[in-house]
Amino acid sequence: MIDTTLPLTDLHRHLDGNIRAQTILDLGRQFNLPLPADSLEALRPHVQVVETAPDLVSFLQKLDWGVKVLADLDACRRVAWENIEDAARNGLHYVELRFSPGYMAMTHNLPVAGVVEAVIEGVRQGCRDFGVEARLIGIMSRTFGEAACLAELEALLAHRDSITALDLAGDELGFPGSLFLNHFNRARDAGWHITVHAGEAAGPESIWQAIRELGAERIGHGVKAIEDPALMDFLAEHGIGIESCLTSNIQTSTIASLDKHPLITFLEKGVLATINTDDPAVQGIDIIHEYTVAAPQAGLSAAQIRTAQENGLKIAFLSDAEKQALI
Ligand code: HPA
Ligand code: ZN
Repeated sequence: MIDTTLPLTDLHRHLDGNIRAQTILDLGRQFNLPLPADSLEALRPHVQVVETAPDLVSFLQKLDWGVKVLADLDACRRVAWENIEDAARNGLHYVELRFSPGYMAMTHNLPVAGVVEAVIEGVRQGCRDFGVEARLIGIMSRTFGEAACLAELEALLAHRDSITALDLAGDELGFPGSLFLNHFNRARDAGWHITVHAGEAAGPESIWQAIRELGAERIGHGVKAIEDPALMDFLAEHGIGIESCLTSNIQTSTIASLDKHPLITFLEKGVLATINTDDPAVQGIDIIHEYTVAAPQAGLSAAQIRTAQENGLKIAFLSDAEKQALI
């Protein structure tokens, strides 16, 4: 139930959560790194969520093998390029890829700004090779604390013109947005857009804070907004976009089942909510699955799915002229 007359977008996709199992095997062999298994089938349960994880932090551990094999900058360039190849294979016209350069650099002590540059180059080459339009969102991984996030911010700022927005991801319960006010002040000064993972593991207060104190124009997940009617009204009135990731919310145990997902209510209330993937390789899904399987299971009608698809272009971090060019 994808409308092929409209552009197909994915606004919430982690490049470092979308490293193919085959690539993990290849890079492990290339750099002679110890992996938990040496065949694709045996590796899968280590790098992919089986059914559900008990919570967000356990889910995020499944991303670790993907970044552990990034032993040089060429490997970073490769996974960035493959992300665009995946987007093209899925029929995406426009993708916003987000990545945490500090997390990608961590295992092999790569230069963080070098990782940013390699990702930019890989994505640019991919866009040329596959004809996909893409933008990059820098992530600060809150799980590693304020200082590590500052290092990520500095590395991203060194390439500020190639970065479209700043995000905060990772352990939302353990590291509230209040720790990162200065980081976001600097991001706004740089002219970047702001999106924040909020209301996924923590409650609606985390979403209020992302909007009021960090300057978020869009919210990643935002599931818990459903608990606060005033917040729902605010999101609708102010056009704050919601980046919904249906299967991800089940796999992180944020939501018990898709029929309880608030996406349908967001759409009914006029919130600019969208359908996205999150970490497709780790989740074992793609954008087509989210539109054709997950969204109907979440109770969305064909018309509501179409509205969510239209919202993707509405809340994309693009100028009006750039949006027009996609139509
Ligand atoms: N939440 C927070 N951080 C993340 C996620 C998520 O769903 N996916 C990858 N990093
Ligand atoms: Zn995410």
